[in-house]
Amino acid sequence: MTKNYKRRNTTTLNINTMKDLNWSSLSFGYMKTDYNVRCYYRNGKWGEIEICSDEYINMHMAATCLHYGQEAFEGLKAYRCPDGKVRVFRMDENAKRLQSTCRGILMPELPTELFEEMVRKVVTLNQEWIPTYESGATLYIRPLLVGTGAQVGVHPANEYLFLIFVTPVGPYFKGGFYANPYVIIRDHDRSAPLGTGIYKVGGNYAASLLANKKAHDLGYACEFYLDAKEKKYIDEAGAANFFGIKNNTYVTPKSTSILPSITNKSLMQLAEDLGMTVEQRHIPEEELETFEEAGACGTAAVISPISRIDDVETGKSYVFGDKPGPVSEKLYNLLRGIQYGTEEDKHGWTKVVIE
Ligand code: PLP
Ligand code: COI
Repeated sequence: MTKNYKRRNTTTLNINTMKDLNWSSLSFGYMKTDYNVRCYYRNGKWGEIEICSDEYINMHMAATCLHYGQEAFEGLKAYRCPDGKVRVFRMDENAKRLQSTCRGILMPELPTELFEEMVRKVVTLNQEWIPTYESGATLYIRPLLVGTGAQVGVHPANEYLFLIFVTPVGPYFKGGFYANPYVIIRDHDRSAPLGTGIYKVGGNYAASLLANKKAHDLGYACEFYLDAKEKKYIDEAGAANFFGIKNNTYVTPKSTSILPSITNKSLMQLAEDLGMTVEQRHIPEEELETFEEAGACGTAAVISPISRIDDVETGKSYVFGDKPGPVSEKLYNLLRGIQYGTEEDKHGWTKVVIE
């Protein structure tokens, strides 16, 4: 397939090596691409970057990732921009969060430079799989770190594999920027107040599978968790943070059991740039009543406006409306604009990985 992309300097770049896919019909799922990149940690140090076309990992049956959950992942995206360049968003933040996760579950920290080099490499190697700008789809980048060393006692491994694969994706929640209903699930906790919720480890997602299924079976886009200790405050959704808007204020939960979302951190900054007040604090469930708009946010979700949140156990329903609110829309457009290089990147959040 041949496509012409206008560059900023008005010369035309001929991209004749894109896969012939119906990019706009993609869902958020796995599709095989051409390469992944890998790096092994052995004898106390990280090795060379290896390029691989195998989708499989050969590992010891006693690997710590299989038994004791020594596993962490990240999620970020590459954007094919209207100026013909490919950008990634705040990858240094993903590297830092992975380092924090490593400290949390005793894995060796991967240096930011190595993380960034591997992101650049895997995106460049798979550039034919980066969806078109017009489609709204993106290339999802999934870094994964697993303990591969064998242990039977509960101890950290002495060997690790870090790899990154990519896959083209469409929207995580139905319709993309479209309001969906969510539900508070009270009979499950995703993570404990002093547990692993602040780390991006697979165990948190295993803990969310049943609650997520219940939410879907009831017809909701996703489940919301309350804080595990008091069951009083909004924590987050299974794969996204929460924000509410009222009186020109952006309010988002402060909690020791939620993932520090890079999207949320960016939206807080953008809200501040727009002259809004930003509050990161406990949000009691009843306060939901007072928000003019509400949304879920994350790399996969981007901003996913919330039409209503039902608390099925108490019978309460907090309604925000079937259409995305004006502030959510403004924030969405600004964030997307920065990611696609069409809005000024004042904070230096994006990096061009393909010129
Ligand atoms: N919360 C959870 C549980 C997530 O899985 C994600 C996705 O990464 C987020 C929040 C959003 O984080 P980010 O904006 O860094 O993607
Ligand atoms: C993300 O937003 O990157 C996520 O990790 C969400 C989910 C696919 C786990």
